[in-house]
Amino acid sequence: MSYLINCEKYRQDIIDRFEPAYVMEKFFSDNEIQILMDYQFQNAKRVKARSTSCNIQSVVSMQRLFRDNPWLTDKFTEAFGEFDDDSQTGNYYITNQLHDAHVDLISEEEVLEDQKTCEEDPTWVAVTNTIVPWKSVVFPLFLSYEADCYTAFMHQRRIGYATTFDRDYLTDQGDSSYTLSRNYEGFIDIDGNPMPSTNDSPGWTEEKYPLISKNNFSGFSEEAIFRQVTGDVIVFDACQIHASCQLPNSEDRWMKNGMNIQFYKSV
Ligand SMILES: [Fe+2]
Repeated sequence: MSYLINCEKYRQDIIDRFEPAYVMEKFFSDNEIQILMDYQFQNAKRVKARSTSCNIQSVVSMQRLFRDNPWLTDKFTEAFGEFDDDSQTGNYYITNQLHDAHVDLISEEEVLEDQKTCEEDPTWVAVTNTIVPWKSVVFPLFLSYEADCYTAFMHQRRIGYATTFDRDYLTDQGDSSYTLSRNYEGFIDIDGNPMPSTNDSPGWTEEKYPLISKNNFSGFSEEAIFRQVTGDVIVFDACQIHASCQLPNSEDRWMKNGMNIQFYKSV
């Protein structure tokens, strides 16, 4: 698995690029949001739908999205600097439910697929051999009227594959390629220092994290909580663990269509 080998080899470079999560306000115009929203319906290879998480995802190639929309590469390059422009991962989603604690990265399944294609087709260049995690973004395309949607970003980062954290076996991962982690090993802070896999779940309340049990939250602590606003883009380390949450007195009945995209650095 050269992706993991590179993650180890370039570990310090990955850590050196860590920074606190932040928001780029009014990053997308209404017209750009409309283009991105249309794209998921016009270019889906298939649709994943999971009743347990009330989630519908049109499966769209992020690389193709960027190729078809060069303005997207320009915008993100201007905001972040250069990234590997042939390896973005991510997905669209439509949901009315909060998301559990996870880290969005390339999945083990995606790496294996890339390696397999490489063996079968000698002209194929395995992009997963030459990338390490960098930045991730999440943003809404559509929010129902008066929706109050928030995402909490944890101090904990973990370098590796896309993972959902669930030591209490609460998550049904039916159609997901994310690794389900029952142990919370390998957490590091923004400076790369190891962090414990358990704590007393600071910041957790059942009202705030109705989908995450206190025991599942143990090991996490909140770095920042940002509201999802259409046009704004939330930026965070691709290795940073995050989860959606509900703040007191906020409207908890909503529908959300959004995207997350991960950017990688070439090595
Ligand atoms: Fe995410």
